[in-house]
Amino acid sequence: MSIRRIFQRFLDWPLRRRLILSFLIVIVIGGIMTLLIGTRIEHQTIISLAEAKVRHDLASAWMVYEERLQSLRDTVRLSATQEYLHAALRHADLERVAGRLDGVRRELGLDVLNLTDAFGRVVVRSRRADMPVGDDVAGDPFVALALRKETPAGTRIVPRDELLREGTDLADRARFQFVPTPMAAERSEDHEDKGLMLKTAAPVMDDSGVLLGVLTGGLLFNRNYDLVDRVKDIVFKGEKYKGHDIGTATLFQDDLRIATNVLDNQGNRAVGTRVSRDVKEAVLDRGETYVGRAFVVTAWYITAYRPIKDIAGRTVGMLYVGMLERPYIDLRNRVMATFAGIAALCALFLLGLLSFVARRITRPLAVMVEATGKIASGDLAHRVEVESWDEIGQLARAFNRMTDELSLAHEDLTQWGQTLERRVEERTRELREAQDRLVVSEKLASLGKMAAGVAHEINNPLTTILINAHLLLERPGRTADDAETLNLIADETTRCAAIVKGLLDFARQTPSQAAPTDINDVIDRTLLLLEMQASVRNIRFEKALDRALPPIEIDKNKIQQVFSNLAINACEAMPTGGTLVVASFMSRDGTHFEITFTDTGIGISKENIPKLFDPFFTTKSFGTGLGLAVSYGIIRQRGGTILVRSEVGKGTVFTVRIPLADPEEENRIEEAQ
Ligand SMILES: Nc1ncnc2c1ncn2[C@@H]1O[C@H](COP(=O)(O)OP(=O)(O)OP(=O)(O)O)[C@@H](O)[C@H]1O
Ligand SMILES: [Mg+2]
Repeated sequence: MSIRRIFQRFLDWPLRRRLILSFLIVIVIGGIMTLLIGTRIEHQTIISLAEAKVRHDLASAWMVYEERLQSLRDTVRLSATQEYLHAALRHADLERVAGRLDGVRRELGLDVLNLTDAFGRVVVRSRRADMPVGDDVAGDPFVALALRKETPAGTRIVPRDELLREGTDLADRARFQFVPTPMAAERSEDHEDKGLMLKTAAPVMDDSGVLLGVLTGGLLFNRNYDLVDRVKDIVFKGEKYKGHDIGTATLFQDDLRIATNVLDNQGNRAVGTRVSRDVKEAVLDRGETYVGRAFVVTAWYITAYRPIKDIAGRTVGMLYVGMLERPYIDLRNRVMATFAGIAALCALFLLGLLSFVARRITRPLAVMVEATGKIASGDLAHRVEVESWDEIGQLARAFNRMTDELSLAHEDLTQWGQTLERRVEERTRELREAQDRLVVSEKLASLGKMAAGVAHEINNPLTTILINAHLLLERPGRTADDAETLNLIADETTRCAAIVKGLLDFARQTPSQAAPTDINDVIDRTLLLLEMQASVRNIRFEKALDRALPPIEIDKNKIQQVFSNLAINACEAMPTGGTLVVASFMSRDGTHFEITFTDTGIGISKENIPKLFDPFFTTKSFGTGLGLAVSYGIIRQRGGTILVRSEVGKGTVFTVRIPLADPEEENRIEEAQ
């Protein structure tokens, strides 16, 4: 999987997990880096401290070496001044002196204490009186210097033949078969038979300063552990670590360990082994002091090597001190373990803190996501609880504000929707009414034409009938029965004539005599005329008139006819009494007068409502059914309309709407123009 896809997948994780993982990566990488760098610095600090110490230890060891050399020189020089030596040399009485010198040699801890004559020939070998004497050692640089009355002291490589002259035991002590050593430099030989000796030679002179001989002393270092053990005691004070000596010291002859307290795997002193190539090259070949880490026989040591030179300045061996590296490594490991422990504790603490912080960040977000879901599903009253004032808190507050505005907008929309619905309903109703009115008008128009024709034809015969009925009534000799019949004929004919007149009124639509009229005044007069009759039938009139209505251009008689038709109908609908409320007011848009007649009568059934304005539609036995038809015709002519609302058993409202502007007047104005 590519890094990009891993990253993409990471981005899809929940925020909390991402936060924790990111910080975890930072903590782990940071921790490892710190640990590594810390380990390195710690290691370097400890090692450099150890190196400084071993350097110092080497200097101390060298002082022990120097001091040994110095004491060798001093003791031999002192011995050379002894009177018995002068006497023995002067009188060649050497037998006795040999034993005495051997005593001195033992006392001083020397391997060689020889006496030569003034020509450099050995006359006494104190250690081995049995060995031959007389060999010429004047060529020995130490003897040569002593013959010149100097007292040289120093280190010297002693060849095997010279050692053999001191006894095979000494030569054998010096001899080493090389022990195979890894990392040592190649050598053509497989053994060493020379010896490394601390040597001094002091002139033996009589009181007048005449040279009588030379006293030479030597200390063979090969397999002599005094010096290295002394160094160990003085410098390292026998300190041990887990059963091992911390400090070790070694004397090298060239690269060969000839005296050491470094032990091999069997616990023996590791003599016969050789130094590593690196150290050999630095110290023996280049004559430098070497300080550093080195593998010595069985373990790693922090080591220091210093070249040992003979009196001619040639490097002949090395002095080594070394400290076990283990204690330092263990110390470093302990420090690092403590360090790692603290780091782990810190990481744990950080992780806890991080988890807490991440929860603080993500929990409000989860709450907000839930809130969004609720709001989306319609719960606009839902709000997020806000506790903090940080960015999350601000976000939550902004979210709540947004929800507030959303719910306000939603309310507005709902209201607007309802208004719209209402308006649509209103318009639909108006449209239906307009349509109804249109149908009514058409019906009326055609009926009107027919009625006018019929009425015209009937009028004349009716007049003839009526006149003749009256003539017969006035004729003498008629019986009372005849008179009654004739009166009935006259009444019914008059009734027919009234119907015919009504029909003509309805059909003719005579031109109106419009004049500015106070509409309330017309209402007052209409009701005044009917009041008497009404009160008898237990009907009360109430008026709610807007007296501020301006005069309107209208035919006063015709409008009075309309009002009285409506008022009479209302009264007739209340056979057991009731209330008729007549109200007048200006329409809300200021374009119409509206006059309502509200009764508490029997009401009109739904199926009758469409028929109300039909001529001859009546539910009354005495009615003509022309009242509403005629009224409608009058109001239509004036450009207005009549609306009905009714509920059976409760009552009816007739509303007369008259536009302020008279359409006939407008037509006239238009025509005049
Ligand atoms: N206010 C009302 N309450 C109940 N029904 C009414 C009302 N006004 C009119 N009507 C009904 O309408 C019918 C028609 O009325 P319209 O005025 O045209 O004729 P009419 O009153 O029956 O006869 P006319 O007016 O010639 O005496 C009435 O017969 C009656 O059924
Ligand atoms: Mg009527």
